[in-house]
Amino acid sequence: MREVAIVAAGMTNFGELWQSSLRRMFVDAASEALEAAGVKKVDSIYIGNMSAGQFVGQEHLGPLMAGELGQAGAAAARVESACASGGVALRTAFMDVASGMSDLVLATGVEKMTDGADVTAVLASAADQELEAYYGITFPGLYAMIARAHMQKYGTTEEDLAWVSVKNHRHGAMNPKAQFGREVTLEQVMKSTPVSEPLRLLHCSPVSDGAAAVLLCPLDQAHKYTDRPVQIIGTGLATSSIALADRSDMTYLDAVQLSAVRAYEMAGVGPADLDVAEVHDCFAIAEICCIEALGLVEKGKGGAAARDGLTALGGKIPVNTSGGLKSKGHPVGATGIAQTIEIFEQLRGDCGKRQVEGAKVGLTQNMGGSGASSATHLFRRV
Ligand code: COA
Repeated sequence: MREVAIVAAGMTNFGELWQSSLRRMFVDAASEALEAAGVKKVDSIYIGNMSAGQFVGQEHLGPLMAGELGQAGAAAARVESACASGGVALRTAFMDVASGMSDLVLATGVEKMTDGADVTAVLASAADQELEAYYGITFPGLYAMIARAHMQKYGTTEEDLAWVSVKNHRHGAMNPKAQFGREVTLEQVMKSTPVSEPLRLLHCSPVSDGAAAVLLCPLDQAHKYTDRPVQIIGTGLATSSIALADRSDMTYLDAVQLSAVRAYEMAGVGPADLDVAEVHDCFAIAEICCIEALGLVEKGKGGAAARDGLTALGGKIPVNTSGGLKSKGHPVGATGIAQTIEIFEQLRGDCGKRQVEGAKVGLTQNMGGSGASSATHLFRRV
C-alpha cells in the first residue's frame, strides 16, 4: 500500500446559501482545492452526499459534478452513508491512491438542505424505516433518547449538554466560515426552545448548505503540490444496527469505537497521542458519547469534559476547534470533508486564533444516523 497525503483543500462558507446551487457550491470548493495545488486534471472524484435526490431532486452526481468542474471523463461517483458520507468519500479516495490505482484524487462532500424539502423527513430516511421512522421518530428524538439514557446511567446533566454548545460556539466564533459564528452563554442554551427534551435548539446542529473538498496524492509526490502536506495515517469504517432498540446499550456508540480502534491500529497511535480532534456533534449528547467511544475520556465521563475545559482550546485534548457541527453548520454530506479540512489546517498551523499550538497528530470522526455508521481518520503533520 502506498502512503497517502492531503495537499490542498477548498470549502464554501456553511449556512443558508440562497445564492448558490448544489453544483455551484461543489465547483467553488473543488476548484479552490485544485487551484491551491496548481492541478488541472485529476484521476478520480468521490462525492460525499447524503440525499441530493430528496433535497433537490438531483441524483447521478458523479458525471454531473465532474462535467461542471471541467473534469469530464474522470472516474467520478457519489458515496453515501447518511451523515458519514463525507468521511466515507475520504476513505474511498484514500484507498484509490493507496492501492496505486490513481495518483490525483478529489475527496469531496456537498449538501443543499435549505431549498424547501421536508428536511426532518429526509433526514429520518437514514433511520430504520420499519422500526423507527414509521412511528414518527426524528433525529432530534433519537438523540434525545440517547441523552436521557446517558443521564440515567451516568448522572449527566442538562448543564453538561449545554457546556458542549457553549464550548463549540466559542470555537466557532473564531471560524469565519461558520454558519453560527457567535458565542452563546450557558443561560441562553438552557433557556433556548425545547426541540425534543432534554435537547433544546442550542443543543442541535442546524440545517445547512455547503461543500468541501480535499486533494489526495501519494506522499512521495506531495511536494510537487505543496511544501506542507499532511499524511493520512489511519482509516477505520464500522457499522452497528441502525435501530437504537437493537443495541444492547444505546449510550455506547460501538461503531464509533470500532472505527477508531481500526484507525488507531493502522496508524500505530492511540488517544493519548492526539493533539486535536473533530468529532460528530450533531447534537450535544453525540459529542459526549463520541469522545467516550474514541477513548478520549473514560466511559461515562464524557459529560464533564466540556464543563471542565478538557475539550476546549487550551485544554488537554481540544475537540471541535472549527466550532463543530453545532456552530460551523452541518450540510450532512459535506461534514466529513469539512472536519478533515479543519485538521489539515490545524496540522499546517493555518488556524489563526483557534490554532492548537504545535499540533502534530489529529483525528476526525464522522457518523451516520444515530451512530450506525462511523468513519474515523488519523492524520500526521509531515
Ligand atoms: N443553532 C442555533 N440557532 C439556530 C439553529 C441551531 N441549530 N437552528 C435554527 N437556529 C436559529 C435560526 O437562525 C433562527 O434565528 P432567527 O429567528 O434569529 O432568524 C431561529 O433559530 C429559528 O430558526 P428555524 O429555522 O425556524 O428553526 P427550526 O425550528 O425550523 O429548526 C431545528 C431548528 C433544531 C429543529 C433544526 O435546526 C434541526 O432539525 N436541526 C437538526 C438537524 C439534524 O437532525 N441533522 C442531522 C443530524 S443526525
